[in-house]
Amino acid sequence: MLKPIKLAKDHFLSSFDLTKDEINHILNLAKDFKNKDLNVNASGKVLGLIFDKSSTRTRVSFQVAMTRLGGTTIDLNPTTSQIGRGEPIKDTARVLSRYCDVMAIRTFDHSDLEEYAKWSSKPVINALTDLEHPCQALADFLTIKEEFGRLENLVITFVGDGNNVANSLILCGALLGVKIRIACPKGFQPNKDIISKAKQIRGNDDFLTITNDPSKAALDANVLYTDVWTSMGEENQKDEKDREFNGYLLDQSLVNKAKEDAIVLHCLPAYRGKEITNQVMEGEKSRIFDQAENRLHVQQALLSCFFS
Ligand code: CP
Ligand code: NVA
Repeated sequence: MLKPIKLAKDHFLSSFDLTKDEINHILNLAKDFKNKDLNVNASGKVLGLIFDKSSTRTRVSFQVAMTRLGGTTIDLNPTTSQIGRGEPIKDTARVLSRYCDVMAIRTFDHSDLEEYAKWSSKPVINALTDLEHPCQALADFLTIKEEFGRLENLVITFVGDGNNVANSLILCGALLGVKIRIACPKGFQPNKDIISKAKQIRGNDDFLTITNDPSKAALDANVLYTDVWTSMGEENQKDEKDREFNGYLLDQSLVNKAKEDAIVLHCLPAYRGKEITNQVMEGEKSRIFDQAENRLHVQQALLSCFFS
């Protein structure tokens, strides 16, 4: 029977903090948790949740995952703790990591997450920053693997903003051997450092294509993926982004360009009629709600590794 493994890195801040073998192991563990073939006892363990931004899936999947593992969570809402009053991260991290066994943190600047990790004596997990969303990428690849039974050489086309979700998809995809195409407007390309890290892994392989032509990117793709145009914290750019992303709608005509057995993903929350049509979201190719469910199973798998 599969068992959780100790991860090489102390923290999970980036998709790049895991090796290919570790990711595959977590995906296999997640599958077993999903099939209820695995029972890990983390009784007495405490996960602290610090969320500077809203969350439904990430927060609740972490809470349910801990409950299923026999542990508990503490919701350290910044507005009711001293975090919201400006207590330095280095102080908060040193105190909370004496109480909690692991921390999941959702914040704006990735450097703030790194600061938490620097001062925390316990593992810190990235629950989304402006730069990355690595837990989401694990659930995405579990969903894709469930569908196709493999990952190597599949073409995953992401249509939308090249920020956190796209960045983690690129890094995780680089490790797992898929091909990634990003279709985004000029000025909204994925982070340059992320691209160069991913390219280091894959060398001269043509695994990454960045274009501003969604139709070209969708051609014969195995997976079509999108995300909101206006991310959390960018609300004041909404009108500008609505203009910039005009033409980047994941609609039926784009789906028709992909492979016959292609699937559609969205990390959620979704704005129907903006980045995706209702028809595509509710259509037969959509695996969006399986993808959301898989957040729970990968969270259980990831946490169990941090407790092993
Ligand atoms: N996909 C995702 O992270 O959703 P939440 O913002 O609801 O956590
Ligand atoms: N890019 C989105 C992802 C939400 C899960 C955001 O940062 O708001």
